[in-house]
Amino acid sequence: MVPHAVSDILAFRFPKRMEDLHGHLISYLRVSITDRCNERCHYCMPEEEQDWLAREEVLSYEEILRTVRVAALLGVKKIRVTGGEPLTRRNVLWFVDQLCEIDGIDDVGISTNGTLLGKTTKDGRTYAKALKDAGVRSVNISLDTLDAKAYHRTTGRDLLNAAIGGIDAARDAGIEKIKINTVLMRNRNENDLWDLVDFAHDRDLLLRFIELMPVSTTEVLEDDQFFTVNDARKLLEFRLGELSFRPDFRTNGPARYYERGNGQLLGFIGAMSDFHFCETCNKLRLTCEGKLRPCLGSHMEFDLRKVLRDPQMSDADIAGFFRDVVARKPKEHDFRNAYEPGRRMIAIGG
Ligand code: GTP
Ligand code: 5AD
Ligand code: SF4
Repeated sequence: MVPHAVSDILAFRFPKRMEDLHGHLISYLRVSITDRCNERCHYCMPEEEQDWLAREEVLSYEEILRTVRVAALLGVKKIRVTGGEPLTRRNVLWFVDQLCEIDGIDDVGISTNGTLLGKTTKDGRTYAKALKDAGVRSVNISLDTLDAKAYHRTTGRDLLNAAIGGIDAARDAGIEKIKINTVLMRNRNENDLWDLVDFAHDRDLLLRFIELMPVSTTEVLEDDQFFTVNDARKLLEFRLGELSFRPDFRTNGPARYYERGNGQLLGFIGAMSDFHFCETCNKLRLTCEGKLRPCLGSHMEFDLRKVLRDPQMSDADIAGFFRDVVARKPKEHDFRNAYEPGRRMIAIGG
């Protein structure tokens, strides 16, 4: 028998698209490459002492790259690298370089806390510049406040200046799309939103406000911290004037955008309060220990690592695994219903 290239077999056996039972077409894979982080965000990994995964439990870069190659054959076009803090993992720049080379992947982004973007590599470039040179098109940076004390209270670290330096390094590097993510927390950062709006406006960055999701330990999810995107918008309108909905403006994720009188766009990610949130979902998640998750807001996850590490399993088996997981993708998340808070966001990758 004439041996076929893996891609031929896949092209023959599978159409180059993945659609779930609810009409979601999957084109976006979020890949968490580490559970470690140099910060301790209150809503993500609040305890100081962490039980980090052992190295052998975490997928190797080669395992991830193989997974992405197969995913690309199934219609995935966009990869977002997440963590933990992805830039803390050793040789991450090499990994991103390889990722950007994969046929069919036309958009590679990173979600980061920004604190390491300004760090310099051995050849004197910043991490941000090295990422840009590798082909990274978008960087999403978490920033919940510009107040140094509040930053410490939220992240457990004094790294506000490093985060701002990282944002500036990303701008200097010429990264095409830079977004700022602000998690809304009543009694914590509700008075800091305007400064963030000005900060984003001055630097021409896209700012998004995110509702707190119960992907954490229960104690940080008290009702008095929860702040809906609608309430945030109303609060902002007190000082900014009316914000008008721009349904025609979309990024790849679930954010909805509104426009200020001066033209600045502001995004709102209302996973908890927006009943249409999941309608346009286009993604799957791969956790750093190799679990494929069809939805952030559902406890379902499937052990791809076992398949990747089984010498009997081919790329076609990995493709079959992807299809089975997509077939189980729920219509919408379960945050409003049966979801039990518990698994930390850091383990899943946002
Ligand atoms: P881009 O459009 O590529 O910028 O992607 P994104 O908005 O999906 O990326 P980012 O990593 O910046 O995520 C922003 C926030 O939106 C995070 O808190 C995510 O957890 C949340 N988010 C993104 N996608 C989903 C989703 O499918 N479901 C839920 N519940 N939250 C999501
Ligand atoms: N709820 C909402 N957003 C969260 N993030 C981390 N944990 C939570 C949570 N429990 C955000 C981070 C980052 C993005 C990837 O996810 O702030 O911007
Ligand atoms: Fe680290 Fe991001 Fe989690 Fe904060 S939200 S602890 S920066 S992974």
